[in-house]
Amino acid sequence: MAERKKQTVVSSGISGLDEILRGGLPASNLYIVQGAPGSGKTTAALQFLRAGVALGEPCIYVSLSQTRAELEAIALSHGWTLDGIRVEELSASDSINRAADQTIFQTTELRLDETRKAIESAIEEHKPSRLVYDSLLEIRLITADSPRFRRELIAFKAFLAQRNIVALLLDTQTSETDRTGEEVDGIAHGVIRLDKSLEEYGGVRRRIEVSKMRGVPVADGYHDMAIREGEGVVVFPRIVPGAAARTVKPQLIKSGVDTLDEMFGGGQE
Ligand SMILES: Nc1ncnc2c1ncn2[C@@H]1O[C@H](COP(=O)(O)OP(=O)(O)OP(=O)(O)O)[C@@H](O)[C@H]1O
Ligand SMILES: [Mg+2]
Repeated sequence: MAERKKQTVVSSGISGLDEILRGGLPASNLYIVQGAPGSGKTTAALQFLRAGVALGEPCIYVSLSQTRAELEAIALSHGWTLDGIRVEELSASDSINRAADQTIFQTTELRLDETRKAIESAIEEHKPSRLVYDSLLEIRLITADSPRFRRELIAFKAFLAQRNIVALLLDTQTSETDRTGEEVDGIAHGVIRLDKSLEEYGGVRRRIEVSKMRGVPVADGYHDMAIREGEGVVVFPRIVPGAAARTVKPQLIKSGVDTLDEMFGGGQE
């Protein structure tokens, strides 16, 4: 069988996820990580950047929703530091205040421009290989209308692609954004969803789904996931029945009794 041409991939930094992705995230692309509040987006994103830091790559965390102190607290709860990660803290109110200095009318365009310029200049200065954007919800709220949001995202994607950056855009799902998410999915190279649900009994059930990954035959469907102290997000790839049997031939041990071996299809595994 002709070997599939290997594309360059980068490690997601999340145990078990690279396996589902057949090696990692295809390089130089934009990915969306969706999930409800508390589903583990920020934790997963920190792991992705820390994997970059471990390889000596410049990494940047653009935070619109969390302060540096909050990020540090999340990292610290796992015994991690933000060393090597440049945190670009852009509280939405900062850009509003700056915009307000220039004019008494705060237009959507002005606020978007301010935010975009701040992010782009941070990227130009720091030249990251990996970027996290936390989160798209703030841009959704500024733009309100989805065509404007979509255009903004397409422009940002082009900006990142020119600079060979692998980017994770975190998208906080609220009940209102559940439906608008779909058009955004079309722009991204891949979409990963984090799911957190309450079962009738017992603890929270966390699951992960790679709902889209261009050019990669990912293991589809839900895979169990956990957030563990010290390890962060951990993924347990679901075993696909039949997949293992096709690749691994079992070793058979003969009992020495021919009729018995025959009954077990040649011997016991
Ligand atoms: N040290 C830890 N050990 C185990 N679980 C933790 C630890 N710290 C946080 N968690 C769990 O991880 C969850 C937070 O994950 P995270 O902040 O990454 O979510 P998020 O998707 O970014 O949320 P938001 O949309 O609110 O920013 C918490 O709800 C908590 O249950
Ligand atoms: Mg978060």
